Amino acid sequence: ARAWRGVVEEYRDRLPVTANTPVVTLLEGGTPLVPATRVSELTGCEVFLKVEGLNPTGSFKDRGMTMAITKAAEDGAKAVICASTGNTSASAAAYAVRAGMTCAVLVPQGKIAMGKLAQALVHGAKLLQVDGNFDDCLELARKLSVDYPVALVNSVNPYRLQGQKTASFEVVDALGDAPDVHCLPVGNAGNISAYWMGYKEYAADGPATRTPRMFGFQASGAAPIVDGAPVRQPRTIATAIRIGNPASWQLAEAARDDSGGAIDSVTDRQILSAYRMLAAEEGVFVELASAASVAGLLQAVEAGAIERGSRVVCTVTGNGLKDPDWALAGASSATTVPVDAHAAASALGLA
Ligand code: F0G
Repeated sequence: ARAWRGVVEEYRDRLPVTANTPVVTLLEGGTPLVPATRVSELTGCEVFLKVEGLNPTGSFKDRGMTMAITKAAEDGAKAVICASTGNTSASAAAYAVRAGMTCAVLVPQGKIAMGKLAQALVHGAKLLQVDGNFDDCLELARKLSVDYPVALVNSVNPYRLQGQKTASFEVVDALGDAPDVHCLPVGNAGNISAYWMGYKEYAADGPATRTPRMFGFQASGAAPIVDGAPVRQPRTIATAIRIGNPASWQLAEAARDDSGGAIDSVTDRQILSAYRMLAAEEGVFVELASAASVAGLLQAVEAGAIERGSRVVCTVTGNGLKDPDWALAGASSATTVPVDAHAAASALGLA
């Protein structure tokens, strides 16, 4: 087996690049599709987790960012900007370093996980905490990219979705065909749109014979697509998807309708419970927002919207290490012992 070359090289013939395009990569993609034993047991489905937290900066954003920064480099851009709930900014900051560009990021004040903030800063991004929510940040970033010489790398940049569609290719390459159902969390709605694009492409002229039904899940306090109207003050503990007016709203609805799927909401309590279950029973540590895909699957099976026996892929979008506060909350604290085998054994209940 040869070494993985990153999504642009691996899927070059399906992406908008030429032989002269200067590819900016951290060898993203090639993430594992892990059989989910416990979730399969609970649902009666054959469930796999597409573990996107194993990308270079710990989230699926790297797939889109390699394309967006590659095209920005090709266009001669010296600076990029994005709005973010954390992961996009971490990814943009890292890829900007690789490209020798400066990176500006706008994040909602106090509403992004500490690890993501740390990533943007350690990669040298110019970080502004905006006194507003993600939707305000995106509006600001768009305006700045129009008025100043700085390229916007949010998912409204079409190259982002082009890069992100490669995740569907990997799923089909691993399973031999598309699954029956694909579940994922929905925030700004770019990822569900990108997956659908990838699945359609692979069914049209690639190795897939069919497309899956797409199921997207928003947090109930930030569920504009489910509600059918923007949410002014989105609220959820899953800060990555705390978004009230998704940029790819129409594309996500098209993915839902064309695939015969659904976009529904799950409560913070359901998200937290799926998050804990994935860590404690599957051995997969994801961030809160990522667990919305699994929480949604459990709910949809219960409601009869997804048949038992289905082959299902859930994308878990980001790494749990980005936001350890939620792992520590509610966990039993560690016991302190002296350097003594008997004391350690008795603290462990072995003696
Ligand atoms: N999961 C995680 C971990 C995310 O960071 C995001 C989006 C999503 C799911 C939702 O994906 O927006 O394509 O529907 N995070 C963006 C950011 C908004 O700024 O990092 P989506």
